[in-house]
Amino acid sequence: MNARQTLKCAILLGAAAIATAHVTAVKAQTAASSQAPLSDAAVRARANALLAKMTPEEKAGQLTQYFNFLPPGQPNPAVDELTAGRVGSLLFVSDAAEIDRLQRIAVEKTRLKIPVLFGFDVIHGFKTIMPVPIAVAASFDPKVAEDGQRVASSEARAIGLHWTFAPMVDIARDQRWGRIVEGAGEDPYLGSIMAAAQVRGFQGPNIGAPGHIIAGPKHFAGYGAALGGRDYDEVNLSDSELWNVYLPPFKAAVDAGAGNIMSAYMGLNGNPASGNSWLLTDVLRKAWGFKGFVVTDAGAAYDLKTHEYAKDVQDAAVHALSAGVDLEMSVDPSRAAYKTIPEALKTGKLTTKQVDDAVRRVLEAKIRMGLFEKPYVDQAEAARVLADPAHRLVSRQAAERTFVLLRNAGGLLPLDKNGIRSVAVIGPLADSARDTVGPWVFRQDDSETITILAGIKAKLGSGVSVEYAPGVSTPERLYASMFDAMSPVKTVKVDDNAEIARSVAIANKSDVTVLVLGEPQNMIGEGASRASLDLPGHQQQLLEAVLATGKPVIVLLMNARPLDLKEAQPNALMNIWYPGSQGGAAVANVLFGDVAPGGKLPFSWVRSIGQLPLPYSHLTSHQPQNAGKRYSDQPSTPLYPFGYGLSYSTFSFSNLKVSQPSVRLGESVDVTVDVKNTGSRTADEVAQLYIHQRYGSSARPVRELKGFQRITLAPGQTRTVSFTLKPQDLTYWSSAKRAFVQDETTFDLYAGGDSTASLAATFTVGK
Ligand code: NOJ
Repeated sequence: MNARQTLKCAILLGAAAIATAHVTAVKAQTAASSQAPLSDAAVRARANALLAKMTPEEKAGQLTQYFNFLPPGQPNPAVDELTAGRVGSLLFVSDAAEIDRLQRIAVEKTRLKIPVLFGFDVIHGFKTIMPVPIAVAASFDPKVAEDGQRVASSEARAIGLHWTFAPMVDIARDQRWGRIVEGAGEDPYLGSIMAAAQVRGFQGPNIGAPGHIIAGPKHFAGYGAALGGRDYDEVNLSDSELWNVYLPPFKAAVDAGAGNIMSAYMGLNGNPASGNSWLLTDVLRKAWGFKGFVVTDAGAAYDLKTHEYAKDVQDAAVHALSAGVDLEMSVDPSRAAYKTIPEALKTGKLTTKQVDDAVRRVLEAKIRMGLFEKPYVDQAEAARVLADPAHRLVSRQAAERTFVLLRNAGGLLPLDKNGIRSVAVIGPLADSARDTVGPWVFRQDDSETITILAGIKAKLGSGVSVEYAPGVSTPERLYASMFDAMSPVKTVKVDDNAEIARSVAIANKSDVTVLVLGEPQNMIGEGASRASLDLPGHQQQLLEAVLATGKPVIVLLMNARPLDLKEAQPNALMNIWYPGSQGGAAVANVLFGDVAPGGKLPFSWVRSIGQLPLPYSHLTSHQPQNAGKRYSDQPSTPLYPFGYGLSYSTFSFSNLKVSQPSVRLGESVDVTVDVKNTGSRTADEVAQLYIHQRYGSSARPVRELKGFQRITLAPGQTRTVSFTLKPQDLTYWSSAKRAFVQDETTFDLYAGGDSTASLAATFTVGK
C-alpha cells in the first residue's frame, strides 16, 4: 500500500467521522465524573451465563418487543406473553406504576427473572417538553440539543424507562415529508453535530449512567428521502448520496456511543431496510464497529412479508435476523415474526450462533443499564424529578435560542413593552397548549404549557390591553392522524368569515398585531406529509385581511417546514417552530427584546412547493451561470437560504484567513474569520464556514457546511472565530473510485452568516 492508499483506507475505516474529536473530548471529560461502568468482558460473561440457561423460546422472547397501550385489568396478549417469559422489551408504557407492575411480572414470575427493557418515544421531552428537534437544529448550538435531551432523559429514567427511540437523524430534503420536524433538516454536517449531541444528552458518559437512558438513532437508513415526500414510500438513493448525505449523522451517532439503532420501514434501492444486510451488517457493524443492538421500526420485521420480500412470516424473521436486526418491535403478538425463531432453528434456517449473538446484545444492554440490580421504579424519586423546576428553565432557554427571524421591516422588533398600550394576539394556534408543544409528546401537562397568548399577557401585565381572537377555525387534516387517539387534539371551531371580521376590528384598534399561524401539530410528524405548503385552513385569508388594516403585523409561524405565504408581507416574520412547554414565555422574551433571536434555518426555505427538493448543497452541473433560472416561471433559488436568520443587530465578516495556503493530504487546515457586531444591541451570530472543492475524483457540491459557531457579541465588539478543517472534512465518498477519498485539489472557503456568504479564501491540497 502506498501512502495515499493507506490514507484512503484509514479514511474509509473512520469514514465521515464528523465531530469525532469533540465527542472524544466530551467522553474524556465526563468519564471521570461517573461511576465506573462494568468492563466489556464482565458484561459479556454475565450475558453468556444467562444465555447458557435459555430455551429457544426464551431466546426468541428476549428478541421480541411489544407495544403495550392497554391499562391494567384488561385482557392483554402482550402481558400474557410477558408472564410466559416470552417478552424482552415493551414500548409505550409511560406510567411509573404500570412500568413497575409489569417489571415485577418479569422479575418475579418468569423462569429466568430477566427484567424488561422499557422503551418509549422520548423525542423532545417527557413531561417537560423542549422545542421540536428541527427547532433545536435551528439553534446551531449543540449544547441546546445535549442539555434538552439530558433533561428528557432524566425524566424518562425516573419513571422507569430505559431507552428512547431517538434521536431521529434522518436527513430531510423534501419538506413535504412530515417527519422533517423530528430531525435536523437538510445538512449532513449540522445533522451529525446534532446527532452526536443528542446521544450524549440521552446517554451521559456511558450506557447505564444514572439518570440516563439508551439512545436509539433512527431510521437506518435513508427514510428521509421518501419518494414525493410521502411517508413510508420507497427510497432510491445513489451510493454517493447515501455515504455523503444520509449516512454521516448515523455515523456520528454511532461514534458518540449510541447503544441502539432502529432500522427503517421503507425499501431502500429495492431492498427493505429492515432486511438489508448491507446496511445493518456491512456498514453498521463491519465498517463502523457498532456494538449495540438493532431494533426494527414497529412491525418492520413482520412487514418484510408485506413488502413482498419474504415468503412467509418465518422467512421474514430469518431475513431480518440474518440481515442484522436483533430485536423485533412488534405491534402485537398476532403479528410477531420472531416468535418463529425456535422453528427456524429447528429447520436450520437460522443458526444458534446467529440467535445467541442477537440475544447477547439485548442482555448486554440490560446488564449495562443496571436492570438486574435495580429493576423497579422509585415512585418518590419519579415524582421529585418530574417536578424539578430547573427543567422548565432549560426548556425556555432552549426555545429562545431556536427562533429564526426571517423578516423585520423597519426594525419593528423588538417591541417596546413600555411604549405600547394594546396588542392583538390572533390565530388558531395562539392559545393552543397542545400545538405549542408539537408532535410526539404523550405525557406532557397541558396546564403547565405557556401558550403564546399566555406568555405575552404575563410579560405585559395588566397595564397593556391584550385582546385575543382565534381568527379562524383550527385547520383539520383530510385523513385522521393515528396519533389523535393517543394524544387528543383540541380544535377551535368558529364561523370563519365572522371571526376574520372580528379579528380585523381587533387589529384595527390595537397598536400592534401578533398573528400566530402555521400547521397544527398533527399536520407534521409521522404520517403527516403534505402535498401543499400553503397555510392550511383559512389562515391565508385571515393573514391578508389583517395585513389590509395597514397596522403593524408580526407573524409568528408555528411550523417545521417552509410555508408559502404567497405575496403576503407582514412587517415581521419569525419562525417559532413548536417551541415546547415554555414556548409562550420564550416568545414574549424575544418579542419584547429581553433576548435577541439568533437561530438560523436548517433547510432552504423554498418559494413554492414546486421547487422541492432544493438543497443548498447541490452540484454545479451544466450552465452554473443559470443555476438560479432553472425554471421558466419562477427563480430556482430559495426565498431564504439555508443558514439564514436575522437578529436584532447586524454583523460583518472580514479577514478570512487560512493557516497555510497549501497543505498535504492528511493534514488539517486552520481557518479564522473576524465577526463584528455592527449594530447597537448585544446579539448572537452564527459564524458558518463552507467549503467547495474545485475538481477531483468526483464532482462536489457548490458548498458544504463544515463548521459553525454561535457567538454573542456586544455592540462594536469583534471576535476572531477559529475553525479546524480536518482531513475527514475534506474527504468524501467518490462514486468514481467507490471509496472514501481525499483529492489533491483546490478548495474555496466561504465564511458568513448564511450559505450565500461571499467572503472567500482558497487553499490547495497536494502530496
Ligand atoms: C414508528 C415510528 O416510525 C418510529 O419512529 C417510532 O419510534 C415507532 N413507531 C414507535 O413508536
